[in-house]
Amino acid sequence: MTTPPGSTVRHLVRDDAGQVADTAADLILDVLETDSAVGLATGSSPLGAYQEIVRRVRLGATASPVARRGFLLDEYLGLPAGDPNTYASVIRREVADALGLDVRGPDGQAADPEQEAERYGREVVAASVAVQVLGIGRNGHLGFNEPGSSLDSQTRVVRLTESTRRDNARFFDSPADVPTHAITQGLATLMQARRLVLIVLGERKAEAVHAALHGPVDPACPASVLQRHPDAYVVTDREAAAAVR
Ligand code: F6R
Repeated sequence: MTTPPGSTVRHLVRDDAGQVADTAADLILDVLETDSAVGLATGSSPLGAYQEIVRRVRLGATASPVARRGFLLDEYLGLPAGDPNTYASVIRREVADALGLDVRGPDGQAADPEQEAERYGREVVAASVAVQVLGIGRNGHLGFNEPGSSLDSQTRVVRLTESTRRDNARFFDSPADVPTHAITQGLATLMQARRLVLIVLGERKAEAVHAALHGPVDPACPASVLQRHPDAYVVTDREAAAAVR
């Protein structure tokens, strides 16, 4: 384990995706109690950890339920409720149903999205999230906080960048179907979780990991905000750690 100078964020490097999942599951379960709120990212990076948590619960190797409520990190705007691509559907399918978690998230069909974002931000903060699970974009984004997002940003409506829409197009029938806007927890919102666990796999994220851990704390790399959190972990495989110097 290494801790960059001047920061308390801890970087744990593991040999493969299975070990990353195992370590991340330990860090997440460590701080959960049966009435906890847990913050859940979608995307491929946390899937192994989610599966490992479900496996341990099924084996009776950990308390069941592990938490009571799951809070989405972000949600698309404009998809019909129940659409399989809403992040609420993805999180239910991939982890929450198996753990019996009540999923809370922004209403992607709200008539007034700005007001809905504010409402959701207040709900997340009031819930006092025990641990927020995160993935990182190749450009250093967290949630849909793209480069340039203020480190003090609150939960809000954002326009998705074309590169993020392209990255996410693989889940949709056509690239044009990817929503143009979303509601994301702001960086200041997610920083209020008592623990942060950022999970990163693969070489294509290596530069983002380096910038997040060792670059300046700056909106150019939103994930660099982790350096200011008192209990943040970055769990990566060797490939994702390759650019750390
Ligand atoms: C997920 C999210 C995104 C992803 C990030 C990494 O809710 O908001 O920030 O965590 O894009 O995605 P994957 O894990 O698919 O590489």
